[in-house]
Amino acid sequence: MSAPSKTSVVSGFYKLPVDQRRAFVKEFANLTNEEAELFSSCLDIQTADRMIENVLGTFELPLGVAVNFLINGKDYLIPMATEESSVVAAASNAAKIARAKGGFCTSSSAPLMIGQLQLLHVDDVVTAAEEILNHKDKLLALANAQDKILVNLGGGARDLEVRILDSPLGNMIVVHLVVDVRDAMGANAVNTMCEALAPMLEEITHGYVRLKILSNLADKRLVKATAVFDKEKMGGEHVVDAFLESYTLAAIDPYRAATHNKGIMNGIDAVIIATGNDSRAIEAGAHAYAARDGQYTSLTTYSKDTQGNLVGEIELPMAVGIVGGAANMHPKAKLCRKILGITSAKDLAEVAASIGLAQNFAALFALSTVGIQKGHMSLHAKNIAVMAGAQGDEIDKLAEKLVREGKVRLDRAKELLETLRKKSK
Ligand code: MEV
Repeated sequence: MSAPSKTSVVSGFYKLPVDQRRAFVKEFANLTNEEAELFSSCLDIQTADRMIENVLGTFELPLGVAVNFLINGKDYLIPMATEESSVVAAASNAAKIARAKGGFCTSSSAPLMIGQLQLLHVDDVVTAAEEILNHKDKLLALANAQDKILVNLGGGARDLEVRILDSPLGNMIVVHLVVDVRDAMGANAVNTMCEALAPMLEEITHGYVRLKILSNLADKRLVKATAVFDKEKMGGEHVVDAFLESYTLAAIDPYRAATHNKGIMNGIDAVIIATGNDSRAIEAGAHAYAARDGQYTSLTTYSKDTQGNLVGEIELPMAVGIVGGAANMHPKAKLCRKILGITSAKDLAEVAASIGLAQNFAALFALSTVGIQKGHMSLHAKNIAVMAGAQGDEIDKLAEKLVREGKVRLDRAKELLETLRKKSK
């Protein structure tokens, strides 16, 4: 099967055999034969051994691709590495609905990361804070001297902020070093700069610097995505209303917001992992941002437009990189970036935000209508069929029967498989 043009819309993609899906993606993303062969390869042990310590082997996850995405007028196939069934299908369906009204529109701030330096044993914190700010230019110059490459690329230390915090140890000063990290995630650059600033800060304040480390609450590196979901495609305005009722609970209740945001991260983490980024950093930033006003709440907001369509928006920190770390070392991460057709960390952040919104829309849409289990059941049923011993064609036949009966259980699968085999003798 060949991709008709650079469209990410492909109906029945999930029904295609794996080799035809690969062929479609190869053509869409102009992959070389060598790149396309990576789909069936594993991370080589030498690379793995350079990535972490005490390596024994590698650990595989399924890599799928979400279809139908239109982001800022451009078509995207989005690679997703995840162990959870229904996630890829749900994102693809949401993207299809969003497409009818123009897809996802995104924007993002500059790639500014924050490094923290914790200053203790300062006698007069107010005067010391002033003194730090008086030396801002010198401190920024010292920070920039640590990373000439970043500075040559147009990035570097941009600002210094001083906070005075009350603590059980007494007042302490926390200095925030704000660094434009360009296309990197930025942890290495920021941590190196922070460590270099510590002696100068101690000299200025006569205090002692304890912690010097990046903050994962990257609230100066925000990304936003919005989309309009057509009310007719959702089944009518009453479904939009039901959706908004479901959403309201996440807006007011942390118990629901945690699950709601987990659903968002189902999509975001899958892209983050596929592109070799640090999902823990993204998770930490997202959840801390969700609690920024003192109460943990939803990372998305929804409303109705004047025509009764659903308008969704997501905003969260997105500290992703396309250079450095696993993004550079892992061949599949490079392959996934090529499939995405992105050339900057900003593009990747905006794709991640779009898939987060899509994933959240899909979950709430299902929860507000048929419930979540229906979608989950078909793949689950296939797994149960395999566990019961089904092979080849038997798997789909048995799974269909289990879903139709509403009894997706191993004991029933074994019974049905026996009957199926007797009949086909
Ligand atoms: C399951 O992984 C994610 C959901 O629970 C998200 C949600 O409830 O919004 C379905």
